Amino acid sequence: MSLDAATFRRRYGPWAVVTGASRGLGEEFARQLAALGLNLVLVARSEAPMAALAAGLEAAHGIETRVAPLDLGDGGFIDTLAAATEGLEVGLVVSNAALSTVGPLLSQDRAHLVRQLHLNAGAGLILARHFGPAMAKRGRGGIIFLSSGSALHGTPFSANYAGTKAYNLILAEALWYEWRPLGVDVLGVAAGVTRTPGWAANHPKPDRLVPVAEAAPVVTRSLAALGRRPSVAPGLRNRLGYALMAVVPRAWATRILGRSMGKMFGPFASTFDND
Ligand SMILES: NC(=O)c1ccc[n+]([C@@H]2O[C@H](COP(=O)([O-])OP(=O)(O)OC[C@H]3O[C@@H](n4cnc5c(N)ncnc54)[C@H](OP(=O)(O)O)[C@@H]3O)[C@@H](O)[C@H]2O)c1
Repeated sequence: MSLDAATFRRRYGPWAVVTGASRGLGEEFARQLAALGLNLVLVARSEAPMAALAAGLEAAHGIETRVAPLDLGDGGFIDTLAAATEGLEVGLVVSNAALSTVGPLLSQDRAHLVRQLHLNAGAGLILARHFGPAMAKRGRGGIIFLSSGSALHGTPFSANYAGTKAYNLILAEALWYEWRPLGVDVLGVAAGVTRTPGWAANHPKPDRLVPVAEAAPVVTRSLAALGRRPSVAPGLRNRLGYALMAVVPRAWATRILGRSMGKMFGPFASTFDND
């Protein structure tokens, strides 16, 4: 599944914007894109880890980098990012940053839920609308939206998160068709559970029915799928799981997911926040 770096650079170079690049899957996207020779604009709120990553990737791969510390949940972020990418030919956007909080909806703060909606769903839309036109004009480029297996069914105790991930997947698959004639490849990534700081922060317990992937193969498979299909589910066990859930009645699927979420992340306190 190794990609030809020169072909990839011609199709999606010379610059890539990666959001959520300070850790987890975003950091891994940055590492693999740097190894393919793309220059990088790294975006997240925490500047220090991105600056360290950027310096290491410049030294290792001879690429150029820019670090854009900003909050993608803030509606005006695109103006700051437009200034940070001024004069760059951005051929690839990886819309990866997200808040992945787990828990009953009624115990989550309303402002947090709305911020999660804006960040997880809104930011990708704004990025695509901003960088898409120049890609279409050049007749080449790509946009990757990080979605999740939780996008495929109602996922209890992850309701808002799963809803935002469904938005990403549906948006990506539709744009895959719309933008194909323009030469722009769009991909939704229905990632399964992946070992990252964001996943670990939810203090998961093992569930033998739920495979845990490492970030590197998830990213490698996603990059390999770009331009080949509208969406990808990295990992055979994930694909089998999703296929099985697609043939059971939707109420069963949601019950199964609710039990699994409770087992992995519960027990959940039933505190109700009335803000
Ligand atoms: N890990 C999994 O099991 C899994 C499964 C399916 C799908 N996914 C998807 O994969 C993507 C990456 O997940 P991950 O597990 O790698 O997440 P993670 O470890 O929590 O990392 C999230 C990244 O997003 C950035 N971020 C968070 N809030 C931000 C904000 N308001 N503005 C700018 N950047 C922000 C974080 O940096 P700062 O905190 O520095 O801002 C960090 O770089 C997400 O879209 C997630 O939904 C993950």
